[in-house]
Amino acid sequence: MQQTAQDQADRISLISVSSTMKVSSDADKLRRQGADVVDFGAGEPDFPTPDNIKQAGIRAIEENFTKYTPAGGVIELKQAICERHTTDFGTSYSPAECIVTVGGKHVIFNLMQVLVNPGDEVIIPVPYWVTYKDVVNYAGGVCVFVDSDEEKGFAVTASMIERHLTPRTRIILINSPNNPSGAVVDREEFEKILKLASRHGVWLITDECYCHFLYDSAPFSIASIPGAKESVIVAGSLSKTYAMTGWRIGFGLAPAPVVNSILKLQSHMTSNPVSIAQRAAIEALRGPQESVGVMLAEYRKRRDFVVARLRQIPGVSIVEPQGAFYAYPNLGAVLDRDGTRSPLQFAERLLEEAHVAVVPGEAFGTDRHVRISYAASMHDLERGLDRMHTFIAGRLQ
Ligand SMILES: Cc1ncc(COP(=O)(O)O)c(C=O)c1O
Repeated sequence: MQQTAQDQADRISLISVSSTMKVSSDADKLRRQGADVVDFGAGEPDFPTPDNIKQAGIRAIEENFTKYTPAGGVIELKQAICERHTTDFGTSYSPAECIVTVGGKHVIFNLMQVLVNPGDEVIIPVPYWVTYKDVVNYAGGVCVFVDSDEEKGFAVTASMIERHLTPRTRIILINSPNNPSGAVVDREEFEKILKLASRHGVWLITDECYCHFLYDSAPFSIASIPGAKESVIVAGSLSKTYAMTGWRIGFGLAPAPVVNSILKLQSHMTSNPVSIAQRAAIEALRGPQESVGVMLAEYRKRRDFVVARLRQIPGVSIVEPQGAFYAYPNLGAVLDRDGTRSPLQFAERLLEEAHVAVVPGEAFGTDRHVRISYAASMHDLERGLDRMHTFIAGRLQ
């Protein structure tokens, strides 16, 4: 009997294509048809990779650093990652507790493969980054979603999390600053969450992808609290901090046995992250850091503009983001009145009719919001938000 295209492993049906990527491809399709699309969908810096980092990559090619490296990354990069984390946050990781991965997504995927048994529960505050749900499901785990308090800036507290702990809880997964809301878990609350995790013997994974993009507080890592290293795993990425999304370098900081298990997995899957990108990453971590501050200042300006502009649109409310580069406006009052009902329908019409791409809140576990990435030029932010204003005002008449 012949196989059909439907004859695939059951587990692949547990996941779906990342909705953020779908938005980009829909916007692209429209653009190819000649439309002038303003894209607020992409979650990536609009800045180029800083020149010193690019030059390090070019040198790596010229010096023929183009062969396999150890599957978990070269030792010099692991050292650079540990040193930078010590300098920025006061932690004390050694290369044996560090693994280099093909982007931050890869380390989170691998962690779920290594830590989650079928039926294990992973606590995830809502709204959440779209990928968490799928990687937990793919590992056979069960997502336990915890609603955050939008009135209090999408706050998530230890007591909210505690109510969802069960004997099957394996991981608490915190992303601060949060994609999509920009919410930041304050230090005191994070320490309470850590205590909860240690007391119950569950892992606390801290996704620090946006850790350097904070507007009102100093960068902080929960891994710096004495004793934290037994329960905490850092999932890190150079993608946003150094505008290096395409280079695909992420990392994990974790107890050595966890690092070794991920290494085993990577040795059969990706092998090493790209050798050239590893050299560029060393330069990013050890070279001048000014570009990070420059980007942060620009994002702050844009955040202020986007929040102020959204607050002028009828029916829209917005919690001011404290970090990252996303705004997550609540369109509840619009959806109730304009007949679109869901953020998905709203986003589809906004793209079709006003040529503005946003990501619908369903992707992040809420049904009243859309995500706007303000990693876009001021020019685009101005015209995109003008279009959105006209679109919404027109529908509310
Ligand atoms: C919360 C969060 N974590 C991790 C990542 C992973 O980024 P990358 O795989 O590009 O390093 C992203 C990317 O959008 C993110 O938003």
